[in-house]
Amino acid sequence: MNPERYESKIETEKSPAPKILKGAPEFFESREGVEREDKGPLYLMMNLETKCSYRCPKCALPGYRRDMNEPMSLDQRKKFLAKAGELGIKELVVVGAGEPTEHFDGMMKPIIESAHQEGLGTIMFTTTSHLTREQAEFYRDHDVSIFVSLDAIDPETYRELTGTGNLEQVLNNIQMLKEVYGQSEEVINGKKVVRLGINVTAVKQNMEQLDEIKKVASDNMQFIVNFPIRRGKFKSDKVWQRLVGDQYDELQRLAQDKSDTGGHSSIDEGVCSYFNRGISVDVDGQLLSCGYASETAHSLGTVTDESTLNELEEHYRDIRARYKQFTQETGRTPSCPLRDEDYQGFLDQLKKE
Ligand SMILES: C[S@@+](CC[C@H](N)C(=O)[O-])C[C@H]1O[C@@H](n2cnc3c(N)ncnc32)[C@H](O)[C@@H]1O
Ligand code: SF4
Repeated sequence: MNPERYESKIETEKSPAPKILKGAPEFFESREGVEREDKGPLYLMMNLETKCSYRCPKCALPGYRRDMNEPMSLDQRKKFLAKAGELGIKELVVVGAGEPTEHFDGMMKPIIESAHQEGLGTIMFTTTSHLTREQAEFYRDHDVSIFVSLDAIDPETYRELTGTGNLEQVLNNIQMLKEVYGQSEEVINGKKVVRLGINVTAVKQNMEQLDEIKKVASDNMQFIVNFPIRRGKFKSDKVWQRLVGDQYDELQRLAQDKSDTGGHSSIDEGVCSYFNRGISVDVDGQLLSCGYASETAHSLGTVTDESTLNELEEHYRDIRARYKQFTQETGRTPSCPLRDEDYQGFLDQLKKE
């Protein structure tokens, strides 16, 4: 099918204005100023038990097959969000396991409401597979910035990369989100503040489509191209060869080149800020070094109702200090420790007494 047929459904007006996502570190720093030497946590990356009906061959499947305890209860999560607010955390980040729009009532709605009540916005990644206008209005009214995952602009590739996804439905949902969220008038550091984004995971199949996908973002969505993380389903050689093969370096280059941020969806000092400025917790309350880093579970502590602000702050500072040590020892500052060739070296650093 012809991509232009789909393009015509979307506003394609171009804007030279650079964009900044509401919820990015620069957004808060320019608003409130920042103590450069002693940066506190901004993000709480929380994995939730949100099963997903898509079958993406790339899916990183955080938490899959790990020794998982009972999920945190809603009440425990609410208490934790209250502590996050007291710690000065500004955003709940829902990137990890599963599809949030499939679990609105009983899961996303009360959690986002609670985050909002504690003064936190939410950054949420979604395919929009089960998005409704009612949900979109709720997200708009509860300070949710949304990244839509869109890995292709032609229906066949989209289906190949998602297993069951329907591109036309997703493009209609993007249009609906744009209408519901409207145009922002806010400008920070000469950049237009936006609350919507598109996130592409670059693979061989979509390398040639990135500019077309970017047009969907038009002037009211940030455009991010991410490069693959080799975990979950990507651990399979067959899948990796089919989607990445010998193009990994090129995909990484494209991600830097095409993203509005120059890399990940949120960057702080050249490093993914959900990691560098965040605390991550898995479905069962295990602290992780990042939402995808399941192998760090059962080694960094567990969030309980008794966890104190001091303990959480200490955990945050400890991970930062160990990452700093790692960068000093290797002489490199990878933007994503998980994707680094010496990730094991970072894991070893986390284990040191
Ligand atoms: C794990 S998904 C969960 C949220 C939602 N189901 C979605 O796909 O947007 C969160 C983000 O991670 C990306 N992602 C998933 N697996 C990945 C991988 N192996 N490498 C890089 N990005 C990946 C997705 O494209 C999506 O933007
Ligand atoms: S990447 Fe997102 S949409 Fe795809 S299978 Fe994983 S959780 Fe589902």
